[in-house]
Amino acid sequence: MGESRCLVPGCDSSGHLSGLYERHFTRVACPLYHRTTDAQAKDQQLERDIRASDRQKALNKYRQGQVTPEQKNYQSRISSQRRQTAESTERKLEPVDEDGARETDLENLTPAYDLMLFREAQAVASARIEDDLRNLPDTPGLYSIEMGRFEMEVWYQSPYPEDFPRGSKMYICQYCLKYLRCRTSLERHNAKCVWRFPPGDEIYRKEALSVFEVDGRRFKSYCQNLCLLAKLFLDNKTLYFDVEPFLFYVMTVANSEGCHVVGYFSKEKNSFLNYNVSCIMTLPPYQRQGYGRLLIDFSYLLTKTEGKIGSPEKPLSDLGLISYRSYWKDALLRYFADFRGKVVSIKDISQEMAANSNDIVSTLQAVGIVKYWKNKHIILKKQDIFDEFEEKRRRRGPDHKEIDPKCLVWRPFQSADQAKAS
Ligand code: ACO
Ligand code: ZN
Repeated sequence: MGESRCLVPGCDSSGHLSGLYERHFTRVACPLYHRTTDAQAKDQQLERDIRASDRQKALNKYRQGQVTPEQKNYQSRISSQRRQTAESTERKLEPVDEDGARETDLENLTPAYDLMLFREAQAVASARIEDDLRNLPDTPGLYSIEMGRFEMEVWYQSPYPEDFPRGSKMYICQYCLKYLRCRTSLERHNAKCVWRFPPGDEIYRKEALSVFEVDGRRFKSYCQNLCLLAKLFLDNKTLYFDVEPFLFYVMTVANSEGCHVVGYFSKEKNSFLNYNVSCIMTLPPYQRQGYGRLLIDFSYLLTKTEGKIGSPEKPLSDLGLISYRSYWKDALLRYFADFRGKVVSIKDISQEMAANSNDIVSTLQAVGIVKYWKNKHIILKKQDIFDEFEEKRRRRGPDHKEIDPKCLVWRPFQSADQAKAS
């Protein structure tokens, strides 16, 4: 991985969210990003150790049928912390954070106890994730992959299992995503592999374009292989093996042979921060042909169908930011082009687009059509920007692709417990 340094602006890579190491090199383990310090992270690690040992002692006693006064006290303290919800749910719009330099401020969004559990899970995960990444070879081992009719140069390394013999080229079955060391193995595999499309449910089809919803729990190995493949083109991706809490939306283009993967995005089944995309990727041979935009549009269509507001997980990669900015900008310009009222409400736009208001405000700022004047924000109908937008619409060729909401056949995911309760 070469010199590994944390890319969070203002961070010098010192400290670790887990409190276990002196240095970190990813955002997930960055104390600054998580609005804490190395010293606090170390204190919390100590507290976690103490809690874990207390828990063990308490468990032992419980097993012996004893409930101590301390346990009763502890229980009532936790119950009261859980009752303590946000003082005010009306949160102020936060300063727009374009680079994802800091995590969204989570205080007062949820009971303190739940936040503590979340923080604990983040800290534990940060150590595990960096351990995985640290074991990647220092020198780029893999140079290219062959998949279907394409050979692709890889952009980054990916944590394929250590016992998998590494060569400079790897072969991937384009249907089941199994990875193989040499062409002969792939040919042998191809002769047996009966897959012709991704597993899971086909939830969208229009002409040759389909989207499959793949549950990370039911199709664990497929989703892990998809993540390992995606990591070859993503710098900051940190999910490979723990795929069960995610759903994967795989976009394919069909021909007479089968459905060929063009890209995908993953999404948490239950996102604490209302992320509607965790990772998004178009395979390089299909990039810059509008598939990224289709995937983004599709992610918002799902969010709209759920009656929610969503946002992609931050920070975005450079290409991610370019693609999202372009998507948000066009969606906003379309909104304003049709808008006949006088007063624009960010909340209304947010609902219409199913997009988070921070993303909307930051796009308005980036496009340069919002101004603060006499204590008010005003939207400037800059003619050149709207002309350029209309021109772009007109220029669209016959192969311009769009998501057609009518072709979605989908019910939002419900866990087994939720399904039972409803
Ligand atoms: N240089 C300049 N502009 C670009 C580039 C590029 N290399 N690639 C895409 N764009 C622009 C396009 O011009 C288009 O803008 P426009 O509509 O205003 O013309 C917009 O970005 C979207 O282009 P698409 O063709 O729809 O997107 P694509 O299929 O290329 O996919 C994606 C974009 C998914 C970001 C792709 O580049 C990719 O997979 N990159 C590697 C993985 C990655 O970085 N993913 C995002 C991580 S962030 C996250 O996961 C939440
Ligand atoms: Zn296969």
